Amino acid sequence: MCGIVGYIGEQSAYPILLEGLKKLEYRGYDSAGVALLCPEELKVIKAKGEISVLEEKIGNGFPSGTVGIGHTRWATHGAPSDINAHPHCGCSEEFAVVHNGIIENYLGLRSWLEKQGHHFVSETDTEVLAHLVEHFFDGDLLRAVVQSVKMVEGSFAMVAISENEKGKLVCARKDSPLVIGLGERENYIASDVPAFLGHTRKIYILEDGEIAVVTANSVEILSVGGEVLQKEVSEVTWDAAEAEKGGYPHFMLKEIMEQPRALRETMRGRLLKGCSEFSLPELNLTPEEIRSIEQVYIVACGTAYHAGLVAKYAMEKILHIPVEVDLASEFRYRAPLLNKKTLFIVISQSGETADTLAALRLARQKGNKVLAITNVVGSSVAREAHRVLYTWAGPEIAVASTKAYLTQLFSLYLLTYYLAQEKKLLSPEELKEAGEALYRLPEQVETILKRVDEVREIAAYLTSWESAFFIGRNLDYAVAMEGALKLKEISYIHAEAYASGELKHGTLALIVDGIPVIALVTQRAVIEKSLSNIKEVKARCGHVICFAQEGTIEFQREVDRVFYLPTNLDVLMPILTVVPLQLLSYYAAVGRNCTVDKPRNLAKSVTVE
Ligand code: AGP
Repeated sequence: MCGIVGYIGEQSAYPILLEGLKKLEYRGYDSAGVALLCPEELKVIKAKGEISVLEEKIGNGFPSGTVGIGHTRWATHGAPSDINAHPHCGCSEEFAVVHNGIIENYLGLRSWLEKQGHHFVSETDTEVLAHLVEHFFDGDLLRAVVQSVKMVEGSFAMVAISENEKGKLVCARKDSPLVIGLGERENYIASDVPAFLGHTRKIYILEDGEIAVVTANSVEILSVGGEVLQKEVSEVTWDAAEAEKGGYPHFMLKEIMEQPRALRETMRGRLLKGCSEFSLPELNLTPEEIRSIEQVYIVACGTAYHAGLVAKYAMEKILHIPVEVDLASEFRYRAPLLNKKTLFIVISQSGETADTLAALRLARQKGNKVLAITNVVGSSVAREAHRVLYTWAGPEIAVASTKAYLTQLFSLYLLTYYLAQEKKLLSPEELKEAGEALYRLPEQVETILKRVDEVREIAAYLTSWESAFFIGRNLDYAVAMEGALKLKEISYIHAEAYASGELKHGTLALIVDGIPVIALVTQRAVIEKSLSNIKEVKARCGHVICFAQEGTIEFQREVDRVFYLPTNLDVLMPILTVVPLQLLSYYAAVGRNCTVDKPRNLAKSVTVE
């Protein structure tokens, strides 16, 4: 997600802002910019691309001024471009704002402001904030910011400056992090501590609903209602490297732990009216187009392909139409049977995977409308698809995909139920039941993430083995595929996923004394069958680690270890089942001293065939 920095003090602000933005590069971005309160005026310089492009644009004549804000943008609304980069100004260019988060009601606010005579220049949601501050400014920047944030729905961490009040920064936060660094006759603001860790370790952590007025010699924190709040000063004990990972030892663990937030961001604005209504306006499909869908074709690679496998089971069960799922590298050289009634979906976290992009282009050549599910705004896949459903997971740095996969699943469930709603395949009661079940998932993932020690203990058994098996039936088989990939790609343990019913057709020959077999048994319709498969493995002395919904079957007697998951609809269980498998692979890799975030031979985005 975006990176925010701010400085006010006695030093020249520009070098400090630039240093801070560079410290936040790890968060992923596509453009950068700064705004400085120079003696003569407010100056804004911004550019698409890396921070070095911004530096070149500024050259040696960098602006003076001891107050400023900076931003690295991770595009959400509006593709990467100079004009969409932050900071954003109002009409008068006397105000500048940087923002991290998503303003859900920005279109309504934008048209309201346009009726008040405001003119917009960018495609972003953030620009609305700058015009709101300008609109409400009557000589008091704090009051203008308070009025502005009261009108905003969604998530924001924002900082505003104005040449009408040069001696202060005003910032506010809701559902997006913002911290204030405390210096001597100077203060800092950032979305994350690495930005100013070289200058101070004393911080205020802004909480949701809080607003701060920051000057060179003071920091006043207030509630939206204007009450002055007393905050404890916190001391940052992390070093810079740890701080980039939010205190976690690896990006992969940080991203696993971010999954509840990623699910909530992906859900935001798409599950309405007390979870009884599904809304995907970005699909922009007419009722006739939706009614005409008679087949779904999903194409992707790796983990994204595994998300497609889960969708196959869910869509066929709920939409009663055939769903093909294909590896992009295979699809391209097959003679695929597509027709006008096929909804063609590509899934790609990076939006740059060469095979997936080629498959998208082939589908377009065949005249199909293409829907992309991707995590990167303005990526090649996003630009070339006809419609895009974004997973708002935020930048995923670790090569092993975790939060992106989880938000891909969530997006595919939202799509499935949305289509079922529009096709009138489910009753209002069934839609509400599904909506409420989806709504529970982030909190249920949180409860699983609290059991890290339990998983770490299970993982310890795996570290001494060079091979392992993941077995499951139905949706559990699709999740077993993802679990096996996670384990092998970061711990280098050779892991294979098998449909449990396939064991006797060959794999059983490989079950030897003690070999780890991860058995996924969350699908109640096939639980008895799965149990007999577990018995087949136990009869050959395999070491069975079972993942099942709590309260379904007492597995203790049948297996060597069981991890009970919170219960939910069977069809939604993949979102819960995969989380301990991600942790399992993580701790197995750590236990084997592997380079978790950057596994050997692998790249985060495979942009070559
Ligand atoms: C998953 O952990 C791997 N990093 C890899 O399989 C990845 O999912 C695959 O390369 C597809 O990437 P994409 O989602 O960016 O297209």
